[in-house]
Amino acid sequence: MKGPILTATDIRVSFRKENQRRLFGRERQQVLRGISLALEEGECLGIIGESGSGKSTLGRVLCGLLKPEAGTVRINGLDIYGRHNHRENAQLHHSLSVVFQDYTSSANPRFRVRHIIGESLRVLERIVGSKLDRERRTAEVLEQVGLPSSFAARYPHELSGGQLQRVCIARALAIRPRIILLDEAISSLDASTQVQIMDLLLELRRSLGLSYLFITHDLTSITYLCDRVAFMNNGEIVERVDDIRHIAEIRHPYARLLLESVMGIGVEYGSGDNAQAQWAAAAAC
Ligand SMILES: Nc1ncnc2c1ncn2[C@@H]1O[C@H](COP(=O)(O)OP(=O)(O)OP(=O)(O)O)[C@@H](O)[C@H]1O
Ligand SMILES: [Mg+2]
Repeated sequence: MKGPILTATDIRVSFRKENQRRLFGRERQQVLRGISLALEEGECLGIIGESGSGKSTLGRVLCGLLKPEAGTVRINGLDIYGRHNHRENAQLHHSLSVVFQDYTSSANPRFRVRHIIGESLRVLERIVGSKLDRERRTAEVLEQVGLPSSFAARYPHELSGGQLQRVCIARALAIRPRIILLDEAISSLDASTQVQIMDLLLELRRSLGLSYLFITHDLTSITYLCDRVAFMNNGEIVERVDDIRHIAEIRHPYARLLLESVMGIGVEYGSGDNAQAQWAAAAAC
């Protein structure tokens, strides 16, 4: 059996506390307190937690944007914060893409779609040191996310929220990553568009063999999309469910609270196909 595609070991991050009495105060807020996780090839791992629990900070560490004070992140065995030769560097940059929540600000309003998608291709060209057929690749990824290639000429304001988030997913796909990290990527969309985007993600996973790290505060979307879930609270993983079908068995008080709050609004709990059918039905209402 293959090893995990991504591992994080004992990740620790703290930030300097603001509003300290002394100008050069040294008090620090511990935001990640020794997080370890592994992402297997082709799986979707959900990371859930309340606001401020450290999810996005963890996401930034996992995608190479924030070097942790302690701990390691490895993709295919390569330490992403280590020193690498040119080939390894290119390999790492090919490995992981990110889709954020705020699709309106993550897509420059002055750029056409072809330019927005071309941005990540340009970065990749610099890293691998060779030219890519940007026009063809842009048309290809637009098709993969269910948009006509004519959308390449549109500006962000000429797209709906769902279409723009599809463009952001297309941008993430453009570099042919193995892993996509989605940080609250569907949270600002209405329920039926959320279902469409989650269906798209499931389809892309099937057709391209992608692995997802899916960060959210919404348990219902986790049961729709994910195979496993880790619950974060105050910078720690407080509970893990290694088979999403056993989600109802969670014990940690915080995880139970989340579960009950979802059940409380009348969602019958299921998982996999069952949860997907329930979501689709709810969204159609
Ligand atoms: N660059 C930074 N400097 C100082 N503090 C930070 C920084 N980034 C995050 N924090 C703090 O770290 C904590 C965790 O923030 P983070 O954005 O990771 O939470 P989150 O779980 O993603 O929350 P949300 O669900 O609201 O997006 C918060 O208290 C936040 O204020
Ligand atoms: Mg966040």
